[in-house]
Formats: sequence, C-alpha cells, structure tokens
Amino acid sequence: MPAADVNLDEVYAFAINLAREAGKRILEGSAKRHQTAATLDNPNTKKNRVDLVTETDQAVEAYIKDSIAQTYPDFCFIGEESYAGGERVELTDEPTFIVDPIDGTTNFVHGLDFVCCSIGFTYKQEPVIGVIYNPFLDKLYSAQQGKGAFLNESTRLPLTHPNPAPLASLGDAVIGVEWGSDRSKAIIEKKGKMYMRLAGDGKEIEGGVMAHSLRSIGSAALNYSYVAAGQLDLYFEIGCWSWDVCAGTGIAREAGGKVYGRGGKPWSPQDLMGHHFFVVRAIADAPDGSETGEQAQDRIAKEFFAAAEDW
Ligand code: IPD
Ligand code: CA
Ligand code: CA
Ligand code: CA
Repeated sequence: MPAADVNLDEVYAFAINLAREAGKRILEGSAKRHQTAATLDNPNTKKNRVDLVTETDQAVEAYIKDSIAQTYPDFCFIGEESYAGGERVELTDEPTFIVDPIDGTTNFVHGLDFVCCSIGFTYKQEPVIGVIYNPFLDKLYSAQQGKGAFLNESTRLPLTHPNPAPLASLGDAVIGVEWGSDRSKAIIEKKGKMYMRLAGDGKEIEGGVMAHSLRSIGSAALNYSYVAAGQLDLYFEIGCWSWDVCAGTGIAREAGGKVYGRGGKPWSPQDLMGHHFFVVRAIADAPDGSETGEQAQDRIAKEFFAAAEDW
C-alpha cells in the first residue's frame, strides 16, 4: 500500500477512540473477572496455570479486531488472543495494528488497577502510533511519530517536559522489571540473580549496583508508559511479545526515551518481534555540556547490562 493511502492523523484519532471504547468494556468485564480466569485445572490457561486469560481478554480483542476490520479492512492485525488462537505473527511493511486487549491480566483478575489496553500501529515496520489506556485510572498515554507523546491527550510527556530530569547513574534509578509467566527454574533463577545484583549493595554482591529500587507493576505497556512519563527510569523485560511493547515503544521514543535491542545493542524494528526489551527514559543534557542526554542514556544502558551480566 503506498504511503499516501495511510492517513496517520486519522489512524491516530481512531486508535485513541478505540482504546477508550475498549476501556469501557474492560471496566464492564471486571465484575466477572474471575469467570474464566485460570485455576489449577482450567483449560483457559495458556502455557501454565499462571498465564491467565479471561472472557474479557477475548471479548475485548474480538471487539478491537472487528472495529479495525470495519474501518481499515486492508490493514494487518496482530493480537495476543488471536495468536493464542493460532494466528501467525510477522512484522511486514504493511500498515499493521499490534494489539494487546488487556495488558496486566493477572492484575485484572486480582482487582489491582494497573491494567490497560494497548494499541500499537506500525507502518513500514516503524511503530508510528501508540495508544495505551488504563480505564481504572482513566489515564491514556499516546503518541504519533513526530508529534509528541501525551497523557490524556493534553499533557506532554515526559511530565517534566521540556526539561527531562537528570539521572546521574544506575544507582539512582527506579527500574521496572517483571516476573513474567515463564516460571521455569532456569528463567526464574536467572531473573532472581539479576534482580539481586540490581537491588543489592555492591560491597556484598559482586557487580551489585543498589539502584533506588525495582518495581514489578505487572503490565509491560504501563511500564513503557511510566518510562515515557519519566516516572520509571528504566524498564527491562525478557519474555514478552510485540503486543506488549509496540504501542509503548512508540510512546516512549516520542517522549525522548531510548529503546535498545537485545543486550543493549542498537534497536531495529525487528526487535519488536523478539522477546528482549529495554528502554531508558529521557535524560537531560548535563548542564556543563559534558554529556548529552542520549550519551547519558547509553551510559546507563551499559551500566545496566554490565550488572545484568549475560542477558
Ligand atoms: C503480561 C504483562 C506482564 C509481563 C508479561 C506479559 P498479559 O501480559 O505485560 O507484565 O511480565 O510478560 O505477558 O498476559 O497480562 O497481557
Ligand atoms: Ca496474556
Ligand atoms: Ca500483555
Ligand atoms: Ca494480554
């Protein structure tokens, strides 16, 4: 499809409206959030009994998918629940919606309000539009490439815009990390060791940095949103998917955040289809001119991957 056929302003407005409509359905669904939630023997679980899915995850994805098909029948669609239903996932140059109907399903089931709908849109493989809506807190994070990132469509991100806060070192950071749903011994031991090094005192733990703290809020998309807002300094995850991060990547970058490829390598669009994600928030240039914000981001990323060792 030639570029002229995609009106990004229109797609952006459509995605914002769609996220709000999906949010209404998520709120309605919360009354029956336990209904198809996983229990030890519930077949609605995916890879294991902590990989939860509810009727609302499926219904909201169906609603979003139908709405997109009606308005943009030629656009591609990638969604978590469609993938679980066997649909293929491939990032092409075509205009593509990449959607997580509910990011934070475990929180949704437990009534913890870090829950959102995440609608990303790529064109020529670039995440050019991102919309993340948390209906419980009524917070909508959004961005269109080149046009700024916003909270509730009016407040520029980061919240300190136009002057991002300084961040002297990884030791001063609050870092978003997650436990994910892969609870194999190898993964959990590896994550646990890494979190110890990030949280622990370097005097007692070799390679430890003692960051201000670690947070696990249970939603990849909201982690990106908080990095975009400047409320989290970094976010790292291994094991999530394009629908968890596509919208967030667009929003965080537009807010001056820097996303990296696996192990801190330069980011490329195909990294969206991998499972390693890392982003550092916007950082102010050093007042004495000794370091740009981007150089500071790269330095912090290096410190992070030194502490993270072999991730
Ligand atoms: C999950 C959340 C969680 C992350 C997992 C994701 P879901 O998504 O984003 O924070 O740790 O990797 O799968 O299943 O709630 O949509
Ligand atoms: Ca899920
Ligand atoms: Ca998700
Ligand atoms: Ca989901």
